[in-house]
Amino acid sequence: MKTKESTLIFEPYSLNGLALNNRIVMAPMTRSRADNQAHAATELTALYYSQRATAGLIITGGTFISPEAVGVINVPAIYSDEQIIGWKLTTDAVHKKGGTIFAQLWHTGAYSHPDVLGGNLPLAPSALNPHVQVFTPDGFKESVTAKEMTLEDIKQTIADFKKAAINAFDAGFDGVELHGANGYLLQQFFSKNSNQRTDEYGGSVENRARILFDILDEYKSIVDISRVGVRLNPSLDGLMGISIDDETIAVYNYIVNRLNDYGLAYIHLLEPFTDVSSNPNAIQEVAKHFRKIYKGTLIINRGFNKTDANKILNEGDADLVSFGSPFIANPDLVERFKVDAPLNELDRETLYTPGAKGYTDYPTLDELNNSNNVLK
Ligand SMILES: Cc1cc2nc3c(=O)[nH]c(=O)nc-3n(C[C@H](O)[C@H](O)[C@H](O)COP(=O)(O)O)c2cc1C
Repeated sequence: MKTKESTLIFEPYSLNGLALNNRIVMAPMTRSRADNQAHAATELTALYYSQRATAGLIITGGTFISPEAVGVINVPAIYSDEQIIGWKLTTDAVHKKGGTIFAQLWHTGAYSHPDVLGGNLPLAPSALNPHVQVFTPDGFKESVTAKEMTLEDIKQTIADFKKAAINAFDAGFDGVELHGANGYLLQQFFSKNSNQRTDEYGGSVENRARILFDILDEYKSIVDISRVGVRLNPSLDGLMGISIDDETIAVYNYIVNRLNDYGLAYIHLLEPFTDVSSNPNAIQEVAKHFRKIYKGTLIINRGFNKTDANKILNEGDADLVSFGSPFIANPDLVERFKVDAPLNELDRETLYTPGAKGYTDYPTLDELNNSNNVLK
């Protein structure tokens, strides 16, 4: 006999008192549609996110905290008044549909190029080249050797993260997520291979994690820390300029343990991007590992479908599951999961191209059914 599949993903969830309609989260995804002078979110951005407002929680694609944080073209940022106004269109549109939306705050660090930094060198913990491909106005280009941040640069960056969070709440976001994952600035501080500093921001596990807690300590006094999340990718290895080392597990155990003291909205973790099963220094099952350490809300991501998501929620290893690419092609992903409908196919060609194509023109089930009726 076929047993009824659990539907825990559709159950409401209280995120520190913020009522989420379900446990399905839209993962942060850069879509590079802000091809305007102001680098501001537009009506098109608002339409894209509002189409996906049935997600329990939307996390925007990374939004740059300052001009120095930029590492990809056409990304809507959050450091200017015009950008705050631009994002208000999105938060209003999502709220009107009963959705909840956080902004992901992003600094790319070494993962950048002078072509997107007004000719300046990228800022990073150490003067190293991550050897990654950077999306510039002339297409993808190899990264360069970054400029090592001075203590003054670090202070300024912390101030920029602070201002960006204030701006995000001014723009009507329900919360913010610090992008501490995928090889960008914060992860460059955490990892030995990208951080060769000898001051208080390098060397020991505590020192390499320091910048994250400096930012959060600033946040405590200016925003509601229970509306702040942190994204981490502890098993990233050999990609995006990051390698696992003999202290990787210690760094992330330290970070996650200490995050227990902050009363955050959540931690948002990624399962390994690559097969790390033969690496004794890698965490193999990220959610399982950190569930034992973290006492607050845990969001897990990467490669989930409806069945796997329900399974991990039922097993208790995560509280919420985020979906990335399925949300690009399926604005009504939640509805499709509910009725077990097939998913639209993702068009990779239009992931980062300007305009509505491949952004706001993926059909919902209703639209598909209606167009089929018309054809009949
Ligand atoms: C087009 C695209 C853009 C992305 N941009 C971001 C981003 O801005 N910030 C981030 O933390 N992750 C980003 N990611 C990673 C996703 O959040 C997610 O981790 C990844 O897609 C794996 O989830 P999935 O298997 O459900 O797609 C991006 C992924 C895609 C496909």
